[in-house]
Amino acid sequence: MIEIYDITKKYGNRTVLDISSLSFSKGETVVIAGPNGSGKSTLLKILAGTLKADSGKLTVGGKVLYLPQQSLPFGMTVRKNILFSIESRTDKEVRCDEILRKLNLKAFEGKNAKTLSGGECQRLALARLLVNDCDFLILDEPSSAADIEGNELIEGAVKEYKEKNGCGVIMTTHSPRQALDLADRIIMLCDGRVAENGSFREILQNPQTEWTKKFISQWSIDFNR
Ligand SMILES: Nc1ncnc2c1ncn2[C@@H]1O[C@H](COP(=O)(O)OP(=O)(O)O)[C@@H](O)[C@H]1O
Ligand SMILES: [Mg+2]
Repeated sequence: MIEIYDITKKYGNRTVLDISSLSFSKGETVVIAGPNGSGKSTLLKILAGTLKADSGKLTVGGKVLYLPQQSLPFGMTVRKNILFSIESRTDKEVRCDEILRKLNLKAFEGKNAKTLSGGECQRLALARLLVNDCDFLILDEPSSAADIEGNELIEGAVKEYKEKNGCGVIMTTHSPRQALDLADRIIMLCDGRVAENGSFREILQNPQTEWTKKFISQWSIDFNR
């Protein structure tokens, strides 16, 4: 489990996060949704341990892998970027080939990672995470720069990784379709506070606030897809 209690975070005088309690289990995919500036990345950074909250308690039961919203590759080949990230000592080459194929990066393996496009770079960043095992995968907008095919590759790789590892996934997205496809539970943030916490259907059928009603009215969802 990952649990937080009474977490607050301020920048200057402005409180950007104020959450009384949340918990995340292994085996569950949770999507954090909300408009720009609602505190999604701040929450993920705190959960991943890269940012300290001003107050409150964080308990992390297990190993976490974290993909920041912007992550820069090392100035070396795509293959070396991946090999460099692999913690296992025994099957590095096999793991590397497997993820290169899965995320359609094989054609770029000899290319300097600094010359990749935004979408390719995002796939490489995810590849560098998924070569290792973990209990919780924390992903901040993992496919924001991806095209349709890139989105499918990224979602497929995350789903497969989760099934294989039995880990928990905590991720942000601005895509309602992605949230519907991946999430067991959605947490909606409004101005750093939890506005909703439940399944997609629960939230759509019984929104807790006027703000949520307005926010989800922008999400056109086809449940029959
Ligand atoms: N290092 C920082 N210094 C000052 N303000 C920040 C900093 N990081 C984030 N913020 C502000 O905190 C708010 C929440 O940011 P963030 O968590 O990145 O939002 P989101 O990911 O939901 O778009 C935003 O208004 C942002 O401008
Ligand atoms: Mg963000």
